Amino acid sequence: MRARRVWAVVPAAGRGERFGGGRPKQYETLAGRAVIEWSVSALLACRDVVGVMVALAGDDRDWSTLAIASDHRVHTCRGGKHRSDSVLAGLEALHELNADDTDPVLVHDAARPAVTAAAIEALIRGADGPSGGLLALPVADTLKRGEAGESVATAERSGLWAAQTPQMFPLGTLREALREGRAQGVAVTDEAQAMERRGYRPRLVAGEAGNIKLTRRGDRVLLEAILHSRTRGQTE
Ligand code: C5P
Repeated sequence: MRARRVWAVVPAAGRGERFGGGRPKQYETLAGRAVIEWSVSALLACRDVVGVMVALAGDDRDWSTLAIASDHRVHTCRGGKHRSDSVLAGLEALHELNADDTDPVLVHDAARPAVTAAAIEALIRGADGPSGGLLALPVADTLKRGEAGESVATAERSGLWAAQTPQMFPLGTLREALREGRAQGVAVTDEAQAMERRGYRPRLVAGEAGNIKLTRRGDRVLLEAILHSRTRGQTE
C-alpha cells in the first residue's frame, strides 16, 4: 500500500491585535521556542505529513530567523488579508509541490503551539473521508448571552462543540469551498464552516483541552506551563 501523503497549511500572516505587543504572537517565545516552531514541529512529528506550507505576512521579518525555516519539508507563501485568504493562498501554493486534489490537507493555526502529534494522528485517522473533520471538544461551561455586561439568557449547550485546529479536508474540496465563500463575501472563521456551507458534515474528532490558541496575554501563562511540562518529559 502506498504511504499516504498528508499536507499541512499553517496560516501565520496575522498580526494578533487582541494579543498586543510589538511582534506578531506566533513569534513570541514560549518555553524556549517560538510559538510557530512548536506548532510546525508537531505537524512534522506525524509520519504521514510530507510537507508544510506556512502563509506569512508580506512584511514578515521573523520567520527566516527560526531554525525550522530551513527544514526541507517546510515551505512558505504569502498570506492574505483575512485568515481564510491565507489558508487559500497556502492551498494554492501546495500545487507547486505537486500536491494532488485528493490528498488530505491539515490546516493548523500557527497560534496553537500545544497541539500534540497524538491528537493530529487521531484526526488523520478519524477524518479521512470526503467531508474531512476537525479536532473539537464538547462545550463544558454554561453559556451566557451577554448584553452591556449583563447576562440576559442561558444558551442550550447540548450538541455544542468548541472547534480547534488542525482541521483536515481533501485539498481540492476545501479549496473550492473557500473560493466559494470568498466569492459570496462570507467571512468564514474556520475551514469546517466553508465545508458545512457546501453541505458536507465534517467529523468531530475529540481533541485535547491543552490545545488552546494564544489569543490574549493571559493565555501565555497556561501555554507556557503546558509546553514546559513537555520539555521535562512529563505528561499533561
Ligand atoms: O487572529 P487569530 O487568532 O484568529 O488568527 C488565527 C491564525 O490565523 C493565526 O495563526 C494567524 O497568524 C493566522 N492569520 C493569517 N492571516 C490573516 C489573519 C490571521 O494567517 N490575515
